[in-house]
Amino acid sequence: MEINLVSDTITKPTYEMLQYMFNAQVGDDVYKQDPTVIELEARVAEMFGMEAGLFFPSGTMANQAAIKLHTQPGEQLIADKYAHVYHYEGGGVSFNSGVSCCLLDGNRGMITAEQVAAAINDPEFYHSPLTSLVCVENTTNKGGGACYEIEDLQKIKEVCVANNLKFHMDGARIWNALIAKKQNPKSFGAIFDTISVCFSKGLGAPIGSMLLGDKATIHRALRVRKILGGGMRQVGYLAAAGIYALNHNLERLAEDHRRAKELAEVLRKSSWVATVEPVETNILIFSLASQYSDQLLIEKLKQKNISISSMGHGKLRIVTHLDYREVMHTYVLETLQKIVW
Ligand SMILES: Cc1ncc(COP(=O)(O)O)c(C=O)c1O
Repeated sequence: MEINLVSDTITKPTYEMLQYMFNAQVGDDVYKQDPTVIELEARVAEMFGMEAGLFFPSGTMANQAAIKLHTQPGEQLIADKYAHVYHYEGGGVSFNSGVSCCLLDGNRGMITAEQVAAAINDPEFYHSPLTSLVCVENTTNKGGGACYEIEDLQKIKEVCVANNLKFHMDGARIWNALIAKKQNPKSFGAIFDTISVCFSKGLGAPIGSMLLGDKATIHRALRVRKILGGGMRQVGYLAAAGIYALNHNLERLAEDHRRAKELAEVLRKSSWVATVEPVETNILIFSLASQYSDQLLIEKLKQKNISISSMGHGKLRIVTHLDYREVMHTYVLETLQKIVW
């Protein structure tokens, strides 16, 4: 039994999900004729109280399209120093949009309105790039699954409005925040110009993301998606996985959160662990006391068929997910308690 705690992206569709995909009604989505894609786009847009949605093959492409929509070459966006859009999207910010990033030293991947206000370049000072966009990530990935308070996002929004900046949320794991904090998706829809969401992380679909926004922005996004090569034909088979995931896998995220917290408790009691970051959702980040090696722990766990990952800079990461079941969890808790060095 292989237990993979490296990411929540590793889940495989169940028989029931595949059956649902198999039965999907499809059409050519490049002509906007796929009823299943249209159904998913309308459903998620409605959930977030936004006017429209556009299905994308990946979260990366949805984020990159948003950045392209909100900026012009030479301009600058503001994000946290851990932001996925900066670190893990292949340099797409500069490649696709010709934009630079002003990275803020946030707390667990989250930034504040004060930090944003202080980072905006004076638009009259033409020596500096024009600040045009703020991106936040919710939940944070490298920040350890942390969730923003709606009030804090509202404050950032006020800074954006006052300074003529667009506001985008990378909501790849927004589902985890909705469940963990019992937040209403419409509260996010009321704040952001665009939101990207993923069906292929905690929700367990094999593929699929969506960009949400107002009708005019999403109409423009259709062209950007085409340019990026993300226009897909009978893609309702994949959108069906998103519909199935929303129907069956949203509420159960609470189980992933409970398991991550239980793992954190065991680690906190282990003499070889130096720090365990607060756990709000399904991502757990911890570090080892200086005499122990990250690589050695990874290998020790590997020998017990458990995979976890290093994020560098002394941070180890565990991510719980749909395919990490209770029997595995019991075994991992026991194994961590028995580690000898
Ligand atoms: C916070 C965040 N945003 C965006 C993405 C990109 O998603 P994808 O892998 O579908 O491109 C990820 C992927 O892990 C992520 O963690």
